[in-house]
Amino acid sequence: MQEYWEQPPLVIASGQGGWLTDVEGRTYLDGNASIWTNVHGHNDPDLNAALQRQLGRVAHATMLGLAHEPGAALAAELARLAPEGLSRVFFTDNGAGAVEVALKMSFQYWQLEGRPEKRGVIGLAGGYHGDTIGTMAVGDSGFFHERFRAWGFPADHFPAPICREWAGVVHEADARESLAALEALLREKADRTACLILEPSVQGAAGMRLQPPGFARSVAALCRQYGVHVIFDEVFVGFGRLGPLLVCAEEGVTPDFLCLAKGLTGGYLPLAATLAREDIFKTFLGSYESRRAFFHGHTFTGNPLAAAVALENIRKLREWDDAGALPARAACFGRLLEAAFAAHPHVRELRHRGLTAAIDLMPAGGGEYPVAARAALRVCLRARDHGLLLRPLGDSLLLVPPLCLSEPELGELVSRTLRAIDDVLPDFQSHAQRS
Ligand SMILES: Cc1ncc(COP(=O)(O)O)c(C=O)c1O
Repeated sequence: MQEYWEQPPLVIASGQGGWLTDVEGRTYLDGNASIWTNVHGHNDPDLNAALQRQLGRVAHATMLGLAHEPGAALAAELARLAPEGLSRVFFTDNGAGAVEVALKMSFQYWQLEGRPEKRGVIGLAGGYHGDTIGTMAVGDSGFFHERFRAWGFPADHFPAPICREWAGVVHEADARESLAALEALLREKADRTACLILEPSVQGAAGMRLQPPGFARSVAALCRQYGVHVIFDEVFVGFGRLGPLLVCAEEGVTPDFLCLAKGLTGGYLPLAATLAREDIFKTFLGSYESRRAFFHGHTFTGNPLAAAVALENIRKLREWDDAGALPARAACFGRLLEAAFAAHPHVRELRHRGLTAAIDLMPAGGGEYPVAARAALRVCLRARDHGLLLRPLGDSLLLVPPLCLSEPELGELVSRTLRAIDDVLPDFQSHAQRS
């Protein structure tokens, strides 16, 4: 907090496409897609029009006991987008909320099925699912959450797989240890475990940790075999971030629950959704006195403005999907990243998939920067001078552009990042050694 407080504040006034402009009139490339949300760019005429059309009708009407057209239409569209069987949609307004809902639905399902002892949760090492008490409990996000452990419920974690890939080629992929550890855990604890939660394909907040293709499918198959629900948290990876509109559909997996947020409204408005299987939905039906209903709600659940924008976002995304635009853009991004950073003396490792990347920084020749040196933060601050907004994660830079960036703009993102690294790190290393 103090670091941010000591920096001159950067106050955004407007946006256009992949660019943001501050109150001083300086323009920046939005290199983290306004926290991994932006799809079609800022101030998109189609999304604006969808929002304005809905604004002329009603800005908010509750979905608690009522319905409205954009909410119903969006639920139907999400069910069409998702793999067959994920037919029911519960709206919330942020990613953590969507995950909390999936967890609570799983917990309640097992109670309703007469298996109240199935209460446990399994997560993947390094997992991040949000900052609320429940999502912190099932995540494994180091010092971000450690302080609050005492207030969460216990969860088990299994080791992440190994996956090193570059230039679109998998060079090392080993999920055997990870899957064996998961199977051992399930063998021992499935009878007491409600669900497993996984960010499929890429763990974003862990620093873009990649999973080998097919890993999520193997995890889901093991869960099915041992009678444990599987929750896919696609809050980050969904809506084209990795190429396909949904990772589960690409992997051919129907999870029991699917959590969506971030890109759902193209980065315009807070909206999230938890999709559930039809048979799970039906388990919650019963007379009022049976108390089978899912008692959970949020005031702005399924807000009509957000739902209208989400529908337009998905319509436009489908056009890109039909034209194969996202894989082509991702391939270009990958080539640019490899050319700039794969052999850079200050880059320990480069990981990228789809339109997302992590660049781990190191002193030339190896070793670590002292924690207090804040190497990546300094690179991000320098990047502002080159008209680029980035966020650090420890000693890594995370590049998560709006999906709409053109190839020349992706080139700008990479070259401005490179310039910031080259400006800061050579001097910085001798400075860090001296101090
Ligand atoms: C995979 C994943 N799940 C959940 C969340 C939490 O979403 P929100 O910040 O909207 O609560 C995030 C946020 O980064 C995320 O990356």
